[in-house]
Amino acid sequence: MFYEPSNGHGLPHDPFKAIVSPRPIGWISTMNGRGEVNLAPYSFFNAICNNPLLVLFSSDGEKDSVSFARERPEFVANLVGRELAEKMNRSSVNAPRGVSEFGYSGLTPAPSRLVAPPRVAEAPAALECRVTEILEPKGLDGGHAGVFVVVGEVVGVHIDEAFLTPEGLFDAVKAGNVSRLGYMDYSTIDATFAMRRPRWED
Ligand SMILES: Cc1cc2nc3c(=O)[nH]c(=O)nc-3n(C[C@H](O)[C@H](O)[C@H](O)COP(=O)(O)O)c2cc1C
Repeated sequence: MFYEPSNGHGLPHDPFKAIVSPRPIGWISTMNGRGEVNLAPYSFFNAICNNPLLVLFSSDGEKDSVSFARERPEFVANLVGRELAEKMNRSSVNAPRGVSEFGYSGLTPAPSRLVAPPRVAEAPAALECRVTEILEPKGLDGGHAGVFVVVGEVVGVHIDEAFLTPEGLFDAVKAGNVSRLGYMDYSTIDATFAMRRPRWED
């Protein structure tokens, strides 16, 4: 089949997010100017380069994570391990502004080293970030798409050493990195395979 999204897909549910999957989940903690803490999952999240280390998350409308990151331009992107999936989902509740999703979800805020927002103590890894820009992408019609993309540079990295192999590799299978698919679906990492990039000289 082929469809033009502007004309509809004709399927029972929009397949777009199932096609662009899996998407890692950035479990974003932020703090506003009054010191109130916010935590919410974002699957429009990814790393975009590693020198410098830049990550981004995209909010459909200006949600609290964006307005908090505007007020205090820092965030922590916490990794969702398999054991944390249900608590991550719980933290996506539309809690009133100022109510911390840490307490609501039964999670422990741990102090960050270099930024004010706390990290999720239970997370297998966490990236402390400082905001570099907040973008307002446009659609083809030139109008604001209604999403806000928060870009941040990673200034500190926490790793729970329980997830480091004896060789010092981060064990994504053991951590069970949870990612978002389409519909109500999620995935975790059960197996990996390795490939070496070809070099023309070989
Ligand atoms: C797994 C998962 C991924 C999500 N990804 C996004 C996303 O990429 N963008 C978005 O705007 N909302 C996303 N949401 C919904 C937000 O988490 C939800 O609206 C939340 O209440 C926003 O919180 P905030 O206003 O405190 O930032 C996601 C929810 C879940 C459960």
